[in-house]
Amino acid sequence: MKSFILFLCLAQLWGCYAAPSFIALAYSEPPCDDPEIEQVAAFAVDYLNKNLLQGYKNALNQIDKVKVWPRRPFGEVYEIEIDTLETTCHVLDPTPLANCPVRQVAEHAVEGDCDFHVLKQDGQFSVMSAKCHSTPDSAEDVRKVCPNCPLLAQRNDTRVVHAAEAALAAFNAKTNGSYFKLVEISRAQLVPLPVSTFVEFAVAATDCVAKEVTDPASCKLLAEKQYGFCKASLHERLGGEEVSVTCTVFQKQSQPDGANTANLPSADQSPPAPTPAGPPVASLVVGPMVMEVPQGPAVGGTHHDLRHTFSGVVSVESASGEAFNSEKAPQVTQLGAAGPVVRHCPGRVRYFKI
Ligand SMILES: *[C@@H]1O[C@H](CO)[C@@H](O)[C@H](O)[C@H]1NC(C)=O
Ligand SMILES: *[C@@H]1O[C@H](CO)[C@@H](O)[C@H](O)[C@H]1NC(C)=O
Repeated sequence: MKSFILFLCLAQLWGCYAAPSFIALAYSEPPCDDPEIEQVAAFAVDYLNKNLLQGYKNALNQIDKVKVWPRRPFGEVYEIEIDTLETTCHVLDPTPLANCPVRQVAEHAVEGDCDFHVLKQDGQFSVMSAKCHSTPDSAEDVRKVCPNCPLLAQRNDTRVVHAAEAALAAFNAKTNGSYFKLVEISRAQLVPLPVSTFVEFAVAATDCVAKEVTDPASCKLLAEKQYGFCKASLHERLGGEEVSVTCTVFQKQSQPDGANTANLPSADQSPPAPTPAGPPVASLVVGPMVMEVPQGPAVGGTHHDLRHTFSGVVSVESASGEAFNSEKAPQVTQLGAAGPVVRHCPGRVRYFKI
């Protein structure tokens, strides 16, 4: 009898992984930390970052759920849910994701939550649908690890906008190169005492030389875009304001290798210069790209919500829909159905859970 049960188990296992086409409507639920599932998740995160035009790159934190559907005549569709964490690298920064640290809890972390349908055919991945949103960690979580740390502020708060503008003006006054314009305020924190504003923002080079600008409104962004990313602080003092700013200017977009750092005399220790961008992650197929127009520097909210990343870009409908239409309530093959239940999902947490 025992061996009969074992045989059933093995048959189930085989069904899970081999998924022969005659049970085309059965999905399997492999462990979330299966190397193949990690590959799918890495592809999804890469796709997300390539489609982001604002905010920060995201790193994979946890694979929550996965279902694998066989697709006729061949291939598989991975229905995968992943959690990400915001890194400290801006999306315009060419630093490879592997070199981008995630934002720590004390700095007010932001978590992303994504649902992807990824098709694998001929060993190549492509995204069939993608949906994400993101939320900053709760104030309680931040206060637990750092009672006095400032929380994320509204990016269009007048003090934040003023700090970004003052910092950029200070940068433009010192630089010998192009005049830079504000593209996006990425995150900000307000400190009550001493009254200070910390702000991070993205900038873009114009066709004006900073030292010669008389009418900034007439300066146009370069056709061959050159972006930069700045971290600034503004302290209110009795005699006025004290601004410190560090901007990293990235290579023009046609030459995505490396970055130049232009530092102003600054009170803060500037972060280490980003390491040059390596070759793009493997030869992965990337689906349609969003080319939305950035909404301007002073949008509200404390962070760029990933919810806006794929709006109207990828559709949940696939050519043959049936591959992952969960409304059909298909037959499920599951690991360990006849033995003790082993939890395979969610998978491991790579950084921390918020
Ligand atoms: C700008 O040029 C001046 C004079 O040519 C030089 O002293 C200064 O170091 C330069 N600044 C930067 C940031 O390169
Ligand atoms: C910030 O943006 C929100 C909408 O996103 C708006 O309701 C609010 O009035 C804005 N605040 C300021 C100070 O502009």
